[in-house]
Amino acid sequence: MKVLSVVGARPQFVKLAPIAHALRAQGHEHVIVHTGQHYDAKMSDVFFQDLRIPAPDVHLGVGSGSHGVQTGSMLAQLDAVLEEHDPDWVLVYGDTNSTIAGALSAVKLHYPLAHLEAGLRSFNRRMPEEHNRVLTDHAADLCLAPTDVARSHLESEGLAERTVVTGDVMTDVCLATAERVRGTPPTLPVGVEAGGYVLSTIHRAENTDDPARLAAIVGGLAGLPCPVVLTAHPRLVAKAAEHRIDLSQGALRTIEPLNYPEMIGAIAHARAVVTDSGGLQKEAFLLRTPCTTVRTETEWTETIELGWNVLALDLDELSTLVDRPAPAPTEATPYGDGHAATATVETLAARVRSRP
Ligand code: UD1
Repeated sequence: MKVLSVVGARPQFVKLAPIAHALRAQGHEHVIVHTGQHYDAKMSDVFFQDLRIPAPDVHLGVGSGSHGVQTGSMLAQLDAVLEEHDPDWVLVYGDTNSTIAGALSAVKLHYPLAHLEAGLRSFNRRMPEEHNRVLTDHAADLCLAPTDVARSHLESEGLAERTVVTGDVMTDVCLATAERVRGTPPTLPVGVEAGGYVLSTIHRAENTDDPARLAAIVGGLAGLPCPVVLTAHPRLVAKAAEHRIDLSQGALRTIEPLNYPEMIGAIAHARAVVTDSGGLQKEAFLLRTPCTTVRTETEWTETIELGWNVLALDLDELSTLVDRPAPAPTEATPYGDGHAATATVETLAARVRSRP
């Protein structure tokens, strides 16, 4: 079997790692196409190195732009790449502009399309990620769902027959990395003690692009009663500079993006996590660090139901939420046992279509 993966943004490199390893272990051919949506070394290259992902076979180098310009620039190049490599499956990941571009190119050229992390829904139609995931699921021949909740969303949209629950591949890489860094103190470039800091990331457009909302979030973090290590995504840095919002005020200790093993160590040793990232909410749960999510909804509802994540609907309550009593311990494994990538590759291999 020949699989062509289309990736481009940081969380997709994390998901690609266990898939690349499982494809190799099962003796399949794998072509990696990097769209170039994320291009800073700390957002891209370090993930390939640390997670031992083979270098991309093709790099489209699209860079930044409006949604239309960025997605269109990927599409303009992808048709030729797909035709050159002629894969048995085009595999797209998650919910970014790279996902929808890979999906559109594959269906138009009649290449079988599989969507990894299918069925996640926020039901917030203002999120670019929500457009990308809904459209990609409906274009896909195979929806690889991470959880039963994701499957139920796909079923209610009429996609049950194309859906297989294969588990969450981010759990595979999170648990394996946690095992590697266990026992090592956090290696953060600011002086904080294990258990004595809040770890934070903020990057979503709905939080960064409205100056008043961004100022309120940054102010809320700065007012927390312990150091807040803010690993700053380029979008946050750019928007804060544009709106003259100080990322070094109060409790804030702003640092550059961490590499993946550093991030896992930083989450594991944090007193709490405050984020708008989907992946981080789940990683905090897996490492049993209480999380507060700066959004009005989440796709990872299991983290809320199990008590390890709460939504900060009112930013004035951030401090109270971060200081809430510890959640009840749990042995629940809603995201699988760390072997989702193997199941994913087996599912793909069992469904390779013979082509004319
Ligand atoms: C994208 C995804 C989002 C995902 C996130 C992970 C879309 C619509 N959104 O959001 O689903 O959660 O990635 O990080 O695809 N920039 C740099 N260097 C980089 C990358 C980006 O400076 O390496 C800057 C650029 O100014 C760019 C801005 O960050 O305009 C935003 O990047 P973009 O790719 O548009 O979306 P993200 O906010 O990263």
